[in-house]
This record gives sequence, structure tokens and C-alpha cells, in this order.
Amino acid sequence: MDTNLEMTGNTSSKPKDSVISVKNLYKIYKLGDERVRALNGVSFEIGRGEFCAIVGTSGSGKSTLLNMLAGLEKPTKGEIILEGTHIEKKNENQLVAFRRQHIGFIFQAYDLLPSLTALENVALPLSFRGMRRKERNLRADKMLDMVGLQKYKKHKPTQMSGGQQQRVGMARALVVRPDIIFADEPTGNLDSVTSEEMMHLMQNVVRKKGQTLVMVTHDDHLASYADRIIRIQDGKILSNTLVERKEEGSEADGTPVGANEEKTVAPTE
Ligand SMILES: Nc1ncnc2c1ncn2[C@@H]1O[C@H](COP(=O)(O)OP(=O)(O)OP(=O)(O)O)[C@@H](O)[C@H]1O
Ligand SMILES: [Mg+2]
Repeated sequence: MDTNLEMTGNTSSKPKDSVISVKNLYKIYKLGDERVRALNGVSFEIGRGEFCAIVGTSGSGKSTLLNMLAGLEKPTKGEIILEGTHIEKKNENQLVAFRRQHIGFIFQAYDLLPSLTALENVALPLSFRGMRRKERNLRADKMLDMVGLQKYKKHKPTQMSGGQQQRVGMARALVVRPDIIFADEPTGNLDSVTSEEMMHLMQNVVRKKGQTLVMVTHDDHLASYADRIIRIQDGKILSNTLVERKEEGSEADGTPVGANEEKTVAPTE
């Protein structure tokens, strides 16, 4: 048991209604004789309806952590509890079912199907849920409006820019209204203005729909849109901070509208 973590953990940063709970997580990759400790004893909790940013430099373990949270990779040791379910104990079939029911992904590689239009790509996950064509097209249509792609609904991926494709990927992840959304550098291909728009969109998703969003980024500015900022370095958590929510930002004070104030209320560990 990691007593050190328990002793230094500040309970005030613990969410009331925890959706994601990670306990003493390790991921050790073996490369020949060498062992890479991609995750080296990580523990934290994320509450329902939180927008959480996991921030760290390249190679710090962000993607490893996200893949593990999403049940895409098995940890070497430790526990991952999502919605009360231990996902590290599930087999592949159970994981597929769990992901389909609870989880949405926004990846940097947006892997859209090249033969389908933007609308068809976004509607696709709804057909897996047995939704009728008319309803799924309606929902996909609204979601594409939300990400600002009104004019690109009939375009195929090759007829769109990288950033537009990324927004289609985002719409596709959100359309099923998952309980938890994982996003790995979701604005990696977007210019700064579009990135800010996407951050607003993500804030809206969690604030209005009560969804929980976990975003990985190396960008401190993007992280400032989150409610919780978890900093990671060399596979360890450096800090876990709840950020004061700024409901109505104003451009006048120099803060981008919607960005949270970098004011630490509860640093931990
Ligand atoms: N399959 C693997 N086999 C061996 N080592 C790996 C593997 N995947 C990741 N690593 C190592 O684990 C560490 C963490 O990698 P990870 O991909 O999680 O970093 P990251 O924070 O997402 O970086 P980036 O910002 O560059 O995407 C790195 O040192 C990486 O080289
Ligand atoms: Mg990564």
C-alpha cells in the first residue's frame, strides 16, 4: 500500500461523486533488458461533470494513462474504476461492451471512414446502437452544426482539411452522448482560434449535459479551460488541482472568454 500518497493526499480535492477512480496504477513496458516505467504509481479521482485536463511534456505518460483509463491497454498493476466498475478485471469482450455503453473517444488520428461523408461518419456510431436512419441523421446533423461544419456535411474526409476532419471526429465522439469522453490532444491540428472554439464546445458539453471529459494535452493554455488539472511527469502525478470555475469570462480583463482562472483551491500530493 502506498502510505505516502495517502498521507499527502488532500481530501478536499476529492470529488463528491467520483466517476473515475485510479488507484496505484503502474504500466511498465519491457524493451529487451530495459524497463520503461510509463506510469509509476498513479492515483486520482475525477468527479461527474468535470472537465479534467491531464498535462505533461512529451513522453510523460499521458497517452499511456488515457489508453488505460479507456480500457484499451491493460495496466501492469493497480485499479481503474469507471462508473463503479473495475475495468482492469474485464476481458476484451466485456470491455468492448462497456466502452460502447459509456465511453467516447476523440483521438488525434481521427480515423474517419474515407468512403463516407461527414454526416455518415458522425451518424455511424448511432447505427451500432440500433437507432433509425431518420433520427440518427437528424442527430448527426445537429452535432455537425455544433462543431461549425454546416457547410461540410456532404464532404468526404479527403475533401476536408485536417482541422475539419478533427471536428468531424469530435462530433462523432459526442453524438452518442457518452458518460465519459476521452480526448488525446484533441486540437492538435487546429489553429488557435478554432482550438478555443473547441474548448468552449467541450466546456458546454460537460456543463450542460453533465458528461465527464478527460483531455490530454501538453498545452497549458488549453488546460486552463478545465475544471481539474492533473500534472504528470515521468509517469508520476506532480499535482492535482481543482480550478475555480469562471462562468462568464470577459475579453476586457485579458482572459479569454471561458478560460478558467489559474487559481488553485486544492493542490494535492
Ligand atoms: N508500447 C510501448 N513500448 C515501450 N515503451 C512505450 C510504449 N508506449 C509508450 N512507451 C514509453 O512510455 C513513456 C510514456 O509514453 P506516452 O506515449 O504515454 O507519452 P505522452 O505523454 O503521451 O507523450 P506525447 O506528448 O509525445 O504524446 C515514453 O517514455 C514512451 O517511450
Ligand atoms: Mg501522447
